[in-house]
Amino acid sequence: MKATIALLPGDGIGPEVVAQARILLDAIAARFGHTFTIEEGLIGGIAIDETGDPLPPETVALCERADAVLLGAVGGPKWSDPNAPVRPEQGLLKLRATLGVYANLRPVAPHPAAAKFAPLKPELLEGVDLLFVRELTGGAYFGEKGREDNGRVAFDVARYSVEEIERVTRRAAQLARGRRKKITHVDKANVLETSRLWRSVVTRVFGDEFPDIEFEHVLVDAMTMHLLHRPASFDVILTENLFGDILTDEASVLAGSMGLLPSASIGDGRAGLYEPIHGSAPDIAGQGIANPYATLLSVALLLRHSLGLDAEARAVESAVSQALDAGVLTRDLTAEGAVSTSQAGEYVAARVREAA
Ligand code: NAD
Ligand code: IPM
Ligand code: MN
Repeated sequence: MKATIALLPGDGIGPEVVAQARILLDAIAARFGHTFTIEEGLIGGIAIDETGDPLPPETVALCERADAVLLGAVGGPKWSDPNAPVRPEQGLLKLRATLGVYANLRPVAPHPAAAKFAPLKPELLEGVDLLFVRELTGGAYFGEKGREDNGRVAFDVARYSVEEIERVTRRAAQLARGRRKKITHVDKANVLETSRLWRSVVTRVFGDEFPDIEFEHVLVDAMTMHLLHRPASFDVILTENLFGDILTDEASVLAGSMGLLPSASIGDGRAGLYEPIHGSAPDIAGQGIANPYATLLSVALLLRHSLGLDAEARAVESAVSQALDAGVLTRDLTAEGAVSTSQAGEYVAARVREAA
């Protein structure tokens, strides 16, 4: 097949991990006989430095004509002054809104070797296979923001409509049908009005349209604990934007590293957006030691969800799995014998080139 893929490396370790994705995409194209047209665009801090805009119009145009978008990460100390007029993260939020990617899928299925990396008892990790469905284009991230009283008071309005909740709930339910048919909806309905709307809409949509799916509501504060005490008891976890952001970083502890968790952001049409869940990791940027596997696994999700290339996606997942089995590990996963970002990426690309 022919496809156009936009690569947005961004800041910090973003360019380091996206470089490995590019090598992997070339390996997939060669092995499976596809033609991928790969075009790079600016986003985040580097885009502010070069154009003054964290999401230049050229990048929007590139993403809108692409079949899928792969992003590295944005942000870093250089652009983090709380009084800065413009921030790298605004570019990413605007891109998510522009592409209409309201459902952010964040799978967490620790590799069998994860027990060696994760700081949890090995028996807790047995059978853990989670899919977070994080609402991505609403809530406090996108509500009205501002200052009052000469800047001495600040506010971020958390706002959700029935339609926004319905569409992501339906998406989560459809995904649950292909899994263990169980959804945990996480909210803070004992305090927040938005959560009470979520609770009533989720209950109605499941009752009316998905009677075959078992669902429960869990309060977010308790969920942070359950996630570490009994992670295997959950299947699909549906939640709003801010809670999903926080819970998925917590869930990376189950996998062993932030550097292992991919994500797919999808809407109804237009290009999907694929990105590792981690950020620009300023503490290790520029050293060539970042873990590229989250980004390579995001390529697998891109192949599956935006291009319909399931065998290719499985080849990538299998190659990463082989790398973990073989102990091809970056410094976040091992204290001894760590490989570099490019050695890890090259190992995965080589397994794909020889895939059956
Ligand atoms: P972070 O995810 O960048 O890093 C958290 C910790 O995890 C760091 O110790 C880092 O070294 C480690 N880590 C993350 N990814 C890794 C990888 N691939 N390999 C090895 N170690 C890895 O979070 P942070 O430090 O809180 O944020 C840094 C910047 O990144 C901020 O500006 C933030 O806004 C931004 N950010 C961007 C995205 C994104 O672009 N999608 C996501 C999260 C954070
Ligand atoms: C993520 C990041 C982003 C978010 C930031 C950088 C806007 O933390 O993708 O998880 O909060 O969504
Ligand atoms: Mn995050």
